[in-house]
Amino acid sequence: MQTAQSPVSLEETARWYEGKSFVTDWTSWHFPNWMKLLAPYRDRPTRLLEIGSWEGRSALFFLNYLPQMQMTCVDTFAGGQEHQEAASRSPEDAELLRSVERRFDANTGAFSGRIEKIKASSVDALIALGVAERRFDIAYIDGGHRAREVYADSVLTWPLMESGGLVIFDDYLWEEMPDPMDNPKPGVDAFLKSIEGQFRMTHNDYQVAIAKI
Ligand SMILES: C[S@@+](CC[C@H](N)C(=O)[O-])C[C@H]1O[C@@H](n2cnc3c(N)ncnc32)[C@H](O)[C@@H]1O
Repeated sequence: MQTAQSPVSLEETARWYEGKSFVTDWTSWHFPNWMKLLAPYRDRPTRLLEIGSWEGRSALFFLNYLPQMQMTCVDTFAGGQEHQEAASRSPEDAELLRSVERRFDANTGAFSGRIEKIKASSVDALIALGVAERRFDIAYIDGGHRAREVYADSVLTWPLMESGGLVIFDDYLWEEMPDPMDNPKPGVDAFLKSIEGQFRMTHNDYQVAIAKI
């Protein structure tokens, strides 16, 4: 019998996506690392905050891998800078952007009882969650990729985290944009500097993960 303690193979994760509708996959290559980082949470009733959900690929991983987790997904479903620029250049990308929210809803529909979807800018949503005194055990920051957006999302997420909570930053080493300030790294670096002594680094590569002390 499979339990939350059983290891999960990549073949099994592939089955979680059968019958779903995706156009993009920036995400699956992180699964082996996420399995390691999230293994301690598998049999616990956790609360996970995701900033940037797109078509729901990362959300589906978290929902399947953490069977007792409740998830809050924040997204404008309007795309980030890179998606909007692509949409302005190509009709295919424009159509992709128009259909993203529809695909997120269809792909995650089976989990609707475990998902709170907040369609809003991350800054507005995070402020509202803070005022409501909401707290989370895990956060995945994968919204706007400009340094200032990543910084704002990080600063507003940090007070929502329980001590011991895990924050994963996507695309720390992504450098697609010619202006360095349009890439995540300066935002993550500035945020980590501002909370020196308050976290333990648990992963530092293309993605960064920290645990709140
Ligand atoms: C890279 S995609 C997320 C991919 C998703 N986590 C996955 O791995 O399947 C980034 C998402 O962030 C959203 N986004 C960008 N800027 C945002 C903002 N300021 N507030 C809320 N969502 C935003 C975009 O609409 C897009 O869906």
